[in-house]
Amino acid sequence: NKAQAWSARFSEPVSDLVKRYTASVNFDQRMANFDIQGSLAHADMLASIGIISADDKAAIESGMALILEEINAGQFSWSIDLEDVHLNIEKRLVELIGDAGKRLHTGRSRNDQVATDIRLWVRNEIDIAIDLLHQLRHKLATLALEHTETILPGFTHLQVAQPVTFGHHLLAYAEMFGRDAERLVDCRKRVNRLPLGAAALAGTSYPIDRERVANTLGFEGVCRNSLDAVSDRDFAIEFCAAAALIMTHISRLSEELVLWMSPRVGFIDLADRFCTGSSIMPQKKNPDVPELARGKTGRVNGHLIALLTLMKGQPLAYNKDNQEDKEGLFDSADTIRDTLTIFVDMVGGIRVKADAMRAAALQGFATATDLADYLVKKGVPFRDAHETVAHAVRECEQRGCDLADLPLADLQGFHSLIEQDIYGVLTLEGSVAARNHIGGTAPARVRQEAERILAETTAS
Ligand code: ARG
Repeated sequence: NKAQAWSARFSEPVSDLVKRYTASVNFDQRMANFDIQGSLAHADMLASIGIISADDKAAIESGMALILEEINAGQFSWSIDLEDVHLNIEKRLVELIGDAGKRLHTGRSRNDQVATDIRLWVRNEIDIAIDLLHQLRHKLATLALEHTETILPGFTHLQVAQPVTFGHHLLAYAEMFGRDAERLVDCRKRVNRLPLGAAALAGTSYPIDRERVANTLGFEGVCRNSLDAVSDRDFAIEFCAAAALIMTHISRLSEELVLWMSPRVGFIDLADRFCTGSSIMPQKKNPDVPELARGKTGRVNGHLIALLTLMKGQPLAYNKDNQEDKEGLFDSADTIRDTLTIFVDMVGGIRVKADAMRAAALQGFATATDLADYLVKKGVPFRDAHETVAHAVRECEQRGCDLADLPLADLQGFHSLIEQDIYGVLTLEGSVAARNHIGGTAPARVRQEAERILAETTAS
């Protein structure tokens, strides 16, 4: 009369609360697919070295195929008496195929099994996230290409600084998401190592072929130390860190979308399907999606800290603490997946109000730096030019006009080297066109960058 699934050693069952407290099946069952893949690769290897027979291997394969069908059809009955995804599946396998099912766990522990499952799971999420990041970059670059000539004020300290093109502004985010994708590509290399073979912690006395299992599962190599293999969660932390940066970038973009959509600013409109109304104020159209994305960044950042904290006190090798790695990890992956999917659609539907952008750029002396640069090109030292322009700005403030509104005679009052051609420099178009170098805001450069990103992301 066994008190628990794992052994006859126990004389009394755990309480219902302890059972619930220690069970992970409610959340780790979503790794079932990968658990089965791992088991099949392990069984194949056991058969290849003669630890189990070809018949056993075949029975395990057909049993697992049936179990996978049951799970996909929602007909598998998960039980918290069996603690986690691994024991649930193994128990069902034994029910279905008898002794062959009992031989599957030879040379293996749940410790290396779970580490393998998580790596397979994270690897899959990484591939999905990389694809979504490139889709988002594609949408940003598409919109940027339509707005290489649309001018809005660029800000520092949220004060009008210099005019920039809207396409340039959008491509700043395409750069961030490009780095995010690179980070995931790099993280994937360390995720993609096989822990199986480490068994509980010390390895196993069976003559296992770890390379074969790694090959079957598409891992690039095997973990080289059994103690590390079962207890390392660096790869999950790296993934959560990459997810936190993705959300941080999403959050910055969200903040701008909210700001731009505020009627006070009115630079853009978001499609109705990403906004909601107010139950009391009929005039409202609130940008709920970007606000919520900004909010969800908090939990993804939190999961990173939780995981780091989970690891910091653990001695080698496996400790049950590690079971706590999953919910935050899963939630980080779910959150970036949903958020990126929504943003791909939302960015594609941004309606740009170019007139409002332009009007805003005409306020706040956005071309003051251009006037200073104009004088410098005529031989005036930059600091002197800076001072001259400050006087001109002050005068404009008093008159309530822009620099370009000052008559030539008045401008010449500030500096005799100013000539008629200054008006070409003081326009928004002149200002952005002049910044014509790699990374500059000139329409020609923005077009080049947008086209580069479009080409990079076309396959996805
Ligand atoms: N459910 C466990 C986890 O998520 C699996 C490994 C349990 N191993 C053990 N010896 N308790 O980490």
